[in-house]
Amino acid sequence: MSNLWKCGFTLERDTIIVLDFGGQYTHLISRRIRELGVYSEIYPYDVSIDELEKIPKLKGVIFSGGPSSVYSEGSPLIGREFFAWCKRRGIPILGICYGHQLIVHILGGKVNRSVGEYGKSVLRVENREDLFQGLEDTEVVWMSHEDQVSLLPSGFEKIGHTDNCAIAAYRNVKDNIFGVQFHIEVHHTAKGSRILRNFVEGICGSRPTWRMDDWVKETIQNIRKTIGDARVIMAVSGGVDSTVAAVLIHEAVGENLHCVFVNNGLLRKNEAKEVVEGFKRLNFEHIHFVDAGETFLERLKGVIDPEDKRKIIADQFIRIFEAKARELEGAYGKFEFLGQGTIYPDRVESAATSKSASKIKSHHNVTLPQGMTLKLVEPLAYLYKDEVRKVGKLLGLADDVIWRQPFPGPSLAVRIVGEVTEQKLGILREADAIIQEEIQKSPFKSRLWQYFAVLLPVKTVGVMGDARTYENVIAVRAVESEDAMTANFAKLDWDLLERISSRIVNEVRGINRVVYDITNKPPSTVEWE
Ligand code: XMP
Repeated sequence: MSNLWKCGFTLERDTIIVLDFGGQYTHLISRRIRELGVYSEIYPYDVSIDELEKIPKLKGVIFSGGPSSVYSEGSPLIGREFFAWCKRRGIPILGICYGHQLIVHILGGKVNRSVGEYGKSVLRVENREDLFQGLEDTEVVWMSHEDQVSLLPSGFEKIGHTDNCAIAAYRNVKDNIFGVQFHIEVHHTAKGSRILRNFVEGICGSRPTWRMDDWVKETIQNIRKTIGDARVIMAVSGGVDSTVAAVLIHEAVGENLHCVFVNNGLLRKNEAKEVVEGFKRLNFEHIHFVDAGETFLERLKGVIDPEDKRKIIADQFIRIFEAKARELEGAYGKFEFLGQGTIYPDRVESAATSKSASKIKSHHNVTLPQGMTLKLVEPLAYLYKDEVRKVGKLLGLADDVIWRQPFPGPSLAVRIVGEVTEQKLGILREADAIIQEEIQKSPFKSRLWQYFAVLLPVKTVGVMGDARTYENVIAVRAVESEDAMTANFAKLDWDLLERISSRIVNEVRGINRVVYDITNKPPSTVEWE
């Protein structure tokens, strides 16, 4: 991943890093720190000290949770020299869950297998001098562990326990090392943010200097410095990430930015028109529209496997984009840079994927074709989605762009289970439009991450009027999520679901049954394919 510059470091901000031991909530830790106004980044647990030396104002380190036991084979460990380095540099450490156990394991204490503890638990606070400043005698915390610390290394003292966990929190004041068995990053731990603030600001002394308005100014300057007078080409989808990235680049280089929007024929009802109109309102000098629906549909003929669909769509997209770039070079001269709206979780996830994570889906992004000489400009490479939305607001983008639901690159092709045809696309678009309309009128709108229709290759019997019908099924999917890495199905109102269902069956030809998807992620994913 070649990033030309690291956004946000012009001012050399106080930084807290989170070492990732594979925990489900690693991103949440970093996001919660940023919510406190302090910059935070995630690094793999085996990052080298040389790499960390490059961070200008490193103020603290957090070890994340993780699924391993310190005793299992191949579990992620860390050397004693890391602790020695932190001590030399005066950098405090906080371990969470697996991180809490790992510190004890490495520094000479004991971790034991015990009865698991999952869900809410009551912490009895034994010391309020530093990490637990401002807490009551008892506090609700969120636990998720089997192993637990049974003996502390010398120099450590216990600062909290629960009924099932005798050493639920500890500190080593001399070396500035702290640990909590529970997850302070999840909302269920009532004072989680306070504990995190006590660590980040109180113990590490970080100042809250992570401000999006400063970031916008610096980023535009950085882009200008990097790109100079060269030309940038960029694929845009109308989604919040690529639009915000394009506006930032445009603020920096003006008419040297060329945006390309490809209609792949798999978009939602009226979407292509709305995206085109939205970009016209932005008054960019060069927006190029490519209508390629027929080509995509032709290549998707007879394709059923979800991964095949994704690969075909990604490949076709690149072909069209490259052809357009060649055509534009004839008219405008060579492009040196490729703009992309990649955001921070995209990058961290793809790095994790190459290490140990299993591949769930080939997420469609603008994958760089082999031999492509363009240099990347990714202004959002270090931002979370909520931060991207804040930047969009600061840049004056309309609310409908800022709050647009995420939409997968392979578009409706992954919401039609089975072969994609023009006829199925028509049915899905109509059903989806009803869901959009009904939910947007309801109070649920602002609470949901995404809501959409999926067309199933299943026919069932129904009765309409007095006649038998034998038609397809639409599944309604509506989820709540903070970042799409985990998601819960939304507990929508029955009346709303009934309205959606009866409108779809009455208004969309080819559908006689509607079902509601009541699975969370995990174990399901948000999209069906
Ligand atoms: P999943 O389905 O993996 O999706 O739970 C997580 C979020 O990412 C959005 N999204 C995509 N999903 N392929 C996908 O399967 C893609 O190319 C893609 N791009 C974005 C998805 O809509 C959900 O919000």
